[in-house]
Amino acid sequence: MKHAWSRPAMLAAVLVMGTAVSAHAEIAGEKLYKQQCAACHAVKPDAPMGMGPTLHGILGKEAGKVAGFPYSEEFKAGLAGKSWTPELLDKWLEQPQKVAKGTYMMYQQPDPEVRKAIIEYLKTIN
Ligand code: HEC
Repeated sequence: MKHAWSRPAMLAAVLVMGTAVSAHAEIAGEKLYKQQCAACHAVKPDAPMGMGPTLHGILGKEAGKVAGFPYSEEFKAGLAGKSWTPELLDKWLEQPQKVAKGTYMMYQQPDPEVRKAIIEYLKTIN
């Protein structure tokens, strides 16, 4: 029989993938971004709008400023005058509803390592 993986071997492979998140934050971050954000957010500056605004150059940028994107009133109220720091992004990804109650962004990420890897990746998109 080919490819006769035992269960322990498969489990070990899963555990190795888990630790890769912190070991190679940038690469893992890009992968995680593709899995968890890319369906709604492009990273190119002039990409067509998806469900959400492009995240090109998001770190340091004032919230809600992608031209032409129809942000919710709740988003605008919750984030008025704020700029995206790694700390604010971390809070946002953990639970957007706590930052801007009623926002359209349907996502939440309880794992701080996953949030960190994605934020590291976002720093490179500018
Ligand atoms: C199901 C679609 C969806 C997913 C998945 C999603 N987002 Fe969003 N995101 C949105 C929408 C919609 C908004 C605008 C929210 C509003 O107007 O209330 C938004 C807004 C944002 C903003 C604010 C942008 C600005 O211009 O100020 C950031 C930052 C953001 N998302 C990051 C992320 C990241 C990082 C991920 C992946 C970990 C992610 N989002 C996953 C839909 C999504």
